[in-house]
Amino acid sequence: MMALSEVLNEKFDELVGNCMRSGAIDLNLYQEYDVKRGLRDSNGKGVLTGLTEISDVNGFRVVNGVKEPADGQLYYQGYDVKSVVGSGLKKRFAFEEATYLLLFGSLPTKEQLKTFVEILSSLQELSGQFVRDVIMKAPSANLMNGLQKSVLTLYSYDSNPDDISVANVLRQSLQLVAKLPLIAVYNYHAYRHFHFFDSLVIKPAKPEYSTAENILHMLRPDGQFTELEARVLDAALVLHAEHGGGNNSTFTNHVVTSSGTDTYSAVAASIASLKGPRHGGANLKVQQMIRDLHEHCGKTPDEEAVRAYLQKILRGEAFDGSGLIYGMGHAVYTLSDPREVVLKDFAGKLAKAKGMEEEFALYNTVEKVAADLLMSRSHVVKPVCANVDFYSGLTYTMLGIPEELFTPLFAISRISGWSAHRLEELVNKGKIIRPAYKYVGHHREYPNNEQE
Ligand code: COA
Repeated sequence: MMALSEVLNEKFDELVGNCMRSGAIDLNLYQEYDVKRGLRDSNGKGVLTGLTEISDVNGFRVVNGVKEPADGQLYYQGYDVKSVVGSGLKKRFAFEEATYLLLFGSLPTKEQLKTFVEILSSLQELSGQFVRDVIMKAPSANLMNGLQKSVLTLYSYDSNPDDISVANVLRQSLQLVAKLPLIAVYNYHAYRHFHFFDSLVIKPAKPEYSTAENILHMLRPDGQFTELEARVLDAALVLHAEHGGGNNSTFTNHVVTSSGTDTYSAVAASIASLKGPRHGGANLKVQQMIRDLHEHCGKTPDEEAVRAYLQKILRGEAFDGSGLIYGMGHAVYTLSDPREVVLKDFAGKLAKAKGMEEEFALYNTVEKVAADLLMSRSHVVKPVCANVDFYSGLTYTMLGIPEELFTPLFAISRISGWSAHRLEELVNKGKIIRPAYKYVGHHREYPNNEQE
């Protein structure tokens, strides 16, 4: 992008100042009109805007009629997510099974899962034309933008893109579940090739592989991976697949779907939302934050050094100045995020296999100290725990997955939840989502001296 000239720069600064003044609304007005900022009530609880049978997200329990913080629980179509992930190290196709469950409401039989995997495998291709004309053109440094562009452009390759019947949207959804891993990995290769002159190797997916196995196969130059590596990635995909209707990207999907638009537009909007650092982009931020901690406090900082660093973050004096400790806190969960608990367990196993126990221990310390510090703040009204993003970046790093792919991996997985919610919205013929904004400006007379 061209920079503005010096003179125009000054004028532009003036416009920025005007913009800031014009956009600033008196905070007291929000209270006066009882505005549900961020669609939350005064206790931070989300405003009830819909009903769903897809998943249940709980951070509290009721004891003798009193609501109290509890260990987090997450159910996919009524099944505890921990059981859906499974604890054994041999399980394969857990993500495909979870996707089937989310879309169709029941666990597949062995035969149904086999057929479902075959259907996905048959859709797991991208034409050379699409790879050349869409993915290879203008690759973005942030792959989430590349993902959005690619998904939006799939519209042009679909002979029936605007039909929002359940059958057609299901077809499009399955195509997206199958193709997103390829789109993400190929976008990464294109980015590395055109920005850093790395060799460009585009490998097709293997029909006999699971989604997790294919990601590792297509990403790695030698295409090799261990059973444990594939199992851990498969588990991570299950854990990120769905999280109720209120999370930002899924709610975005409901909003956009409710206008009657096409699948590609709705999914591209969800990807845009997921990119944000307060949502899916947090996994990347955690990784960068820990790197910054290493730079400032050394390779193996003790608990006191970690505490001092995190205090600086909270004062907005360290890392990105946002005052946020990434990977901590959640809108619903209080004592724990069940996804984090499961992923931490897998991350521990992987750390052992990779000889990265020291780094894993550092994450444990950051998690503990950060929770202490956040809970001790006066305005925090509920317990704060680590969320799923806290260990996902470390897990991906141990799998040799580059940072650029952290948030795209979230999208590869969450496409299952977005699709289930889009279909639920369509099946239930929801009303167009249209909340209200109160006007708090003044009406004015347009000046008489019309300019030529
Ligand atoms: N670092 C610093 N402050 C935090 C925090 C964190 N990780 N998590 C929560 N807080 C603060 C909030 O900013 C809020 O302060 P405020 O009242 O001055 O705005 C207060 O604690 C209470 O927050 P709470 O109601 O528990 O959470 P929320 O719903 O407002 O925010 C998140 C939830 C996830 C957006 C928030 O915890 C966050 O930004 N975390 C870091 C980013 C992240 O990891 N995102 C991934 C989510 S899965």
